[in-house]
Amino acid sequence: WPKLAVMASGNGSNFEALVKATQNHTLEAEIVCLVCDHADAYVIERAKHLQIPAIILEPRDFKDKNHYERAIVKGLEAYDVDVIILAGYMRIVTPYMLDKYPGHILNIHPALLPHFPGRQGIQDAWDAGVSQTGVTVHLIDSGIDSGPILAQQTVDITEDDTLETLEAKIHQVEQRLYAKTIQEFLQAEKEK
Ligand code: GAR
Repeated sequence: WPKLAVMASGNGSNFEALVKATQNHTLEAEIVCLVCDHADAYVIERAKHLQIPAIILEPRDFKDKNHYERAIVKGLEAYDVDVIILAGYMRIVTPYMLDKYPGHILNIHPALLPHFPGRQGIQDAWDAGVSQTGVTVHLIDSGIDSGPILAQQTVDITEDDTLETLEAKIHQVEQRLYAKTIQEFLQAEKEK
């Protein structure tokens, strides 16, 4: 089965959902490692619990971003990773890593791209007062939340929603959509 690395910076609810999807075989892949850029991120606790090895690398420990990403790629190569899954990884991936895994880095974003890119997709849609937002899964390129879209699902913002209920709805959609889209992506890769 294809080997996936998940890269995450914070809470890790998507990471955990993806690991569970591999365990119940809705996602036919192996998550071989977590890559995390914050030593105190909660996702690291989840990885321990789920017995997934974690590569923890903080950019401030490196001379520059290039050295930081070289260290990540070394780690990924040691695990023989086929596809990189960004799940709340709050950094821009540089051309160095993009060139190492061309067309094989996926990202999830909590809005209907190209609307509301950036770190606060849910909040920004909420503040804009739109009646519909959603979730996007896309391939990564060198921009911020840009790159070819693989899947989108809408989420309605209703009268009785608060920012908190909207966040909960988005996260619920994310967790199903990501596993499903990765599975479809891997299937299409296999048929290439
Ligand atoms: C998710 O909502 C993801 O879509 C978002 O970060 C959250 C991480 O949650 N990503 C972005 O905003 C990327 N620009 P999690 O750590 O619980 O999976």
